[in-house]
Amino acid sequence: IDLSEIINLFDVERLAVGNMTKMAYEYVASGAADEFSLRWNRQALDAIKLNTRVLVDVGEIDTRISLLGLDLPYPILIAPTAYHKIMHPEGELATAQGAGDASAIYVVSSFTTTPLSEIARVATQPLWFQLYVRDDRELTRALIQEAEAQGCRALCVTVDTPVAGVRNRQQRVEFAMPEGVRTPHMADAFALTKSLTWKDIEWLQSFVKIPLLLKGILNPDDADIAVQSGVSGIIVSNHGGRNLDTVPATIEALPRIAETVNKRVPILMDGGIRRGTDVLKAIALGANAVLVGKPICFGLACGGAAGVSKVLTILRTELELAMALTGRATISSIDHSVIWQ
Ligand code: FNR
Repeated sequence: IDLSEIINLFDVERLAVGNMTKMAYEYVASGAADEFSLRWNRQALDAIKLNTRVLVDVGEIDTRISLLGLDLPYPILIAPTAYHKIMHPEGELATAQGAGDASAIYVVSSFTTTPLSEIARVATQPLWFQLYVRDDRELTRALIQEAEAQGCRALCVTVDTPVAGVRNRQQRVEFAMPEGVRTPHMADAFALTKSLTWKDIEWLQSFVKIPLLLKGILNPDDADIAVQSGVSGIIVSNHGGRNLDTVPATIEALPRIAETVNKRVPILMDGGIRRGTDVLKAIALGANAVLVGKPICFGLACGGAAGVSKVLTILRTELELAMALTGRATISSIDHSVIWQ
């Protein structure tokens, strides 16, 4: 694929269709059940209008943030997504290279198809690790210790998946892992625990040495308990519309969570971020940074590392343009007033 055909993050999905197996495409693109939440993630972002300021010096746009002790050149991370080898033969190694080339943090999924040690060897930017807690808590502890040993700088514990959602499109293509593709850190996919509770979060905090974030918060009451229990950050997410259909768009859930959290810990958000203006809107409504899932998978399918870095670079450039055109030269100047009321 000629990557110069990718002008925006919608192009990358269109081009990826022809470059992936149908099974892999359906796995990445689909949402749960009737896909209301999947669509709402996008529609709710589109429906927000921006309020510009003119005659602001935007000669220097500064997108830098600091997040949990790390200095990032721009507030966009790679969301954890499973099974990269079904999207591209180089799998997670290409994703890590693309992240490195674009200076972004890559959150590696528990369902990586490449061992963490090999990813860490090629990574030139910080890695975070996404954790699925399993029934066997000692295997979970060993996995965390491996993530720490490989230098992962934060742990994102996914809390919105006690069971997988109704994945009709995956059922229709009879989704299964191709011959020879393994998930070295999650030997059997169905061992995710259904009994994860706040007590386990306490247990995790008793030995985890890196910042711990909870991924998959939609309810402000849960956000409040999370902060009180001492977590380092919260990720507002509906799993890209893949788990419970008809939960709200994440951009809709974000403001109330931000109000409850009241800057006590950083808030990340994902779900439907496709444009620089989407990043701006998420920050205006209380996010410190955003993550991107599906477009990274499609970029990987189109062009390996180069496709991944292209997706990130497009989004970063669009964010810079959106900041200049709204008269917000720094991330900290992006507040509620940039939203048209
Ligand atoms: C995901 N997501 C996900 N989340 C997680 O915590 N662990 C995982 O292994 C996966 N795997 C996964 C696979 C694929 C193919 C997708 C599309 C998503 C959810 C992901 O981290 C994120 O929440 C959403 O993808 C964000 O929404 P967008 O950017 O895809 O709209």
